[in-house]
Amino acid sequence: MGLTSRDSIFEQAKEWVYEAGENIRSNMYNQLTIETKSNANDLVTELDKKIEKFFAEKIRGLYSNHRIIGEEGYGDDVHSLEGTIWIIDPIDGTMNFVHQKRNFAISVGIYHDGIGQIGIIYDVMDDVLYTAVKGEGAYKNNQKLPQLNKDVVLEKSIIAMNSYIGFNDQRINTDKIKELIAVSRGTRSYGSAALEFAFVAEGIIDAYVSLSLAPWDIAAGMILVEEVGGITTTAQGDKVNLLEKSPILTCNQEIFTTLTKDYIEIK
Ligand code: IPD
Ligand code: CA
Ligand code: CA
Ligand code: CA
Repeated sequence: MGLTSRDSIFEQAKEWVYEAGENIRSNMYNQLTIETKSNANDLVTELDKKIEKFFAEKIRGLYSNHRIIGEEGYGDDVHSLEGTIWIIDPIDGTMNFVHQKRNFAISVGIYHDGIGQIGIIYDVMDDVLYTAVKGEGAYKNNQKLPQLNKDVVLEKSIIAMNSYIGFNDQRINTDKIKELIAVSRGTRSYGSAALEFAFVAEGIIDAYVSLSLAPWDIAAGMILVEEVGGITTTAQGDKVNLLEKSPILTCNQEIFTTLTKDYIEIK
């Protein structure tokens, strides 16, 4: 991906994201078909599908050699990260979308040969656009975000996590998570992984940990967090594979080692 083409892809992607956001806002109060997927709490609405289809058609129309990884089935069957790949979550935080009509986002990450180039996370109801282009910093509504605080310590950190990991999840050492909850300043659960990544990048929370995230939940956010000096790994501290689901940690570098060594133990 050349620098000129990257700039024009970035401008185009932002335009589509804003258009998709407008589409969601103007259709969200219609009677929507809501279905469940893997379990009764795993929701999908017709708008999730419609928005992903919108992106897939636009991308295929303009960039026929790019590939797409998406949550709702309009993407390609992707088994390698070669070439240019758009990794899309049309609505991240569908449960919030259905129940709260807020606190959800559109997430678009664009990778070239496995390297994150463009990350866009759009908080649709607050009209806040987080963006990052590799090597050029991260932005919130066109305002450059500062590098993450180098002086942060766990005792003064806010950690985002899904509430269930603290008390009843067999996949993690919950005793250590309880210690983490006790030692940190506070915990939060926003219900949209993309927004939680954006908040780490913004420096308003210091870490986010989740036990099973898909490529589309994290692709854009990883680029944002990296651009402000943060780090994203599996919850074990290993490199993320964007072709599979994994337990994920994204955080300020200053608390990364203590989080992975002392508090997050995946079984
Ligand atoms: C979900 C949200 C949620 C996270 C789940 C994701 P979806 O995405 O990001 O916060 O806990 O693991 O699947 O299904 O609303 O796009
Ligand atoms: Ca979903
Ligand atoms: Ca998601
Ligand atoms: Ca989704």
